[in-house]
Amino acid sequence: MPGPGAFLVGEEERRHVAEVMETGYLSRYGKEDNPKFKHKVVTLEQRFAERSGVRHALAVNGGTGAIMASLVALGVGPGVEVLVPGYTFVASISAVLAVGGIPVLAEIDESMTMDPGDLDGKITGRTGVIMPVHMLGNPSAMDAIMAVARRHKLLVLEDSCQAMGASYKGKPIGTVGNIAAFSLNFQKTITSGDGGLVITDDTALYERAFAFHDQGHKPLRMGLEIGKRSILGINLRMNELSGAFALGQLEKLDRILSMLKDRKARFKNALLEARIPGMKFRTLNDPGECATLLVVIFDDAGAASRVAKELGSKTVAESGWHVYNHMEQILAVTDEKGKPRYRKGMLPRTDDILARSIALSVGVVDPGLGAGFGINVLSGDAEIDAAAERFIRAARSA
Ligand SMILES: Cc1ncc(COP(=O)(O)O)c(C=O)c1O
Repeated sequence: MPGPGAFLVGEEERRHVAEVMETGYLSRYGKEDNPKFKHKVVTLEQRFAERSGVRHALAVNGGTGAIMASLVALGVGPGVEVLVPGYTFVASISAVLAVGGIPVLAEIDESMTMDPGDLDGKITGRTGVIMPVHMLGNPSAMDAIMAVARRHKLLVLEDSCQAMGASYKGKPIGTVGNIAAFSLNFQKTITSGDGGLVITDDTALYERAFAFHDQGHKPLRMGLEIGKRSILGINLRMNELSGAFALGQLEKLDRILSMLKDRKARFKNALLEARIPGMKFRTLNDPGECATLLVVIFDDAGAASRVAKELGSKTVAESGWHVYNHMEQILAVTDEKGKPRYRKGMLPRTDDILARSIALSVGVVDPGLGAGFGINVLSGDAEIDAAAERFIRAARSA
């Protein structure tokens, strides 16, 4: 099921896409004085950088590409270890492997994001980067994570793919660490079908990310071959049609966030008022969260399982590729001696929390996230109240 932005496609996207369609100029590069070149990708980058309050944004073909370009910019390559939570979309982990790095899986806490307390013990002489993931729109505990990074002189990549529009301590999400990656895939808060963005305030990191995203080129090349190719790159470019669509969506991001916030508040308040024994909400690391899901945590895994079943959903532990235990392609990875690097059950605290958790949809109905039940961004009050009532009934009888 698509995310909130896909429910609200309209005039803004049509206008930007039509401009590109009229001239048929689809490349992100062009000469500024060419009237056919509508520079949608560059404009998207400028607007997103402005909104985030950083010097640089780079548009790419997806969140996975955004993470890869960020990792390469940070110097991750063969043998470099990257700390990443065991509860995340598989792409956070596979992107590290794809650039030759070694993901080291860390526990989560009851915020469903990286547990800063698990990091010190997993840092080795080979560790280069910490990658917190702002899961389900909840900012990670960045102050504590940055303190660990400073202590060990590590760099921080914020996987913000699920948190477009959130903030942490009043700062736009993705601006506390060294660099951040966002996704515009169809399930995300705003979308261009597929697409991604990298942001950073560091010009050297931006230049390296840009070079990796396009065959080693220098940034903002307006169709001209300039300078030496600084590093080996691949092709992660965004084209003008995607850029145009994303621009239209970005213009309505604040509206989408406020629609989500209102519906989530009504849904959550109804559940809070019911005072369901043995159940709480996940902890939020900052009120600037922009969650498209509400996560409830039961004291008892059996109760969570019964409630999920009654609602036609699953516990988060039983859901798809967001749990390391289900990532068969990651579990198949071996070390230099041919031994599996990862195994089911290696993160007991994470397993325990996920077995007791259910994700309720607010903006994205996604059984892959364990969120097969809930509301969406267009739900009216009656629908929200009915969903809350159904949940409360199931939880009380579990
Ligand atoms: C946390 C996280 N990281 C990375 C990605 C990858 O993004 P994309 O699908 O745009 O490549 C996603 C997408 O679902 C995600 O949720």
